[in-house]
Amino acid sequence: MPSKFDEIIDRRSKSNSIKWHAFPEDTLPMWVADMDFAAPPAILGALHGAIGHGVLGYEFPSKQLQESVAKRMQKLYSWDVKADDVVPVPGLVTGFNIAASIGVKPSEGILIQTPVYPPFMKVQKNTATVTQIAELKKVTNDRTLHYEVDWDVFESAVHSNDAKTSMFLFCNPHNPTGTIYSDEDLKRMVDICEREDILICSDEIHSELLLDGNKFTPIANISPEAAQRTITLIAASKTFNVAGLFVGFAIIQNESIRRRFMAESEKMTLHTNTFGHIAAEVGFSGVCDGWLEELLAYLTDNRNFLVDYVKKNFPGVKITNPESTFLAWLDFSELIEQGKVTMPLQDFFIEKGKIAINDGPTFGPGGGGFVRLNFGCPRETLIEGLERIKAALA
Ligand SMILES: Cc1ncc(COP(=O)(O)O)c(C=O)c1O
Repeated sequence: MPSKFDEIIDRRSKSNSIKWHAFPEDTLPMWVADMDFAAPPAILGALHGAIGHGVLGYEFPSKQLQESVAKRMQKLYSWDVKADDVVPVPGLVTGFNIAASIGVKPSEGILIQTPVYPPFMKVQKNTATVTQIAELKKVTNDRTLHYEVDWDVFESAVHSNDAKTSMFLFCNPHNPTGTIYSDEDLKRMVDICEREDILICSDEIHSELLLDGNKFTPIANISPEAAQRTITLIAASKTFNVAGLFVGFAIIQNESIRRRFMAESEKMTLHTNTFGHIAAEVGFSGVCDGWLEELLAYLTDNRNFLVDYVKKNFPGVKITNPESTFLAWLDFSELIEQGKVTMPLQDFFIEKGKIAINDGPTFGPGGGGFVRLNFGCPRETLIEGLERIKAALA
């Protein structure tokens, strides 16, 4: 049966989408992490209603909006969050940069796990702090890849490069590997951060994009101690494909950290967008949960199709089987060694296949020889993209 997510929506001539405009017209974009699907009708209806009012002046993020975030956390994870713990931010990248500004002094360190979403590696530069890298362990099972924490590597990255680690900037579910960390891993991370007095900033933007019905635990909900040292960043932006509205939320249960975070945000006049408030409130209210369920089924099918296609058609290429997100991570290093593809891979695939995918090295150590591919698109687009990669390899 056809799905509403099969519809091909023209983003190139009908929008200024970054994804669809950064490369020449003959190039199919499967890079930037937004999806080629329309947002849920309930969100679009509420946005139309707001425009119908006619006056688009400054607005507060309402108490009701903060409550909708708190209720969502209660409903999804039985996590007891108060409306006042919720601080709106104009995006999660902004959120973790604020966290670094208040939590890390210049010359102190921020620990990250690579390969990782590239803005995680810019924070240190923005805040004159030190980069501390705990590379994830790549585990290969036949042609499938998955990633684990190497605890020796993690422990030795703490206070490395002659700097005290003051913040652990965590990505869960992990972009680009699609890993959802287990409760056991989260407990171990919290224990280390407790022992070494490290602030945790957890980017959980992909936490509702769970494939195969997987479960997710926010690290702050592991224990009351974890909650007291964690800034959790969430949004409706990936879940309901409204990333261009630029609203996210920091959940901060430690009052002193929250006050400092809010003061820093105010100092920079980091106010949030009215349409983003509306989209988040509707998304978190639960009225789009049926839409989300269908989306997750569609993404799971896309993921299965993709992994199967890669194994059948791209000999020598390995791929993750992501547990979450609409992002796959492909290892071309064997083909590079054989001279069949050349680095940088993004240029190679644009030139030979007219397809734009993210280049692995931009995700930091562990990214060489990889690309990230976005499968948040109609199946027909996914097939077209895979055929283009196949043609480039041929
Ligand atoms: C892990 C992660 N964090 C943050 C973002 C961007 O968030 P925002 O647009 O709210 O700044 C993305 C977008 O791809 C992401 O994957």
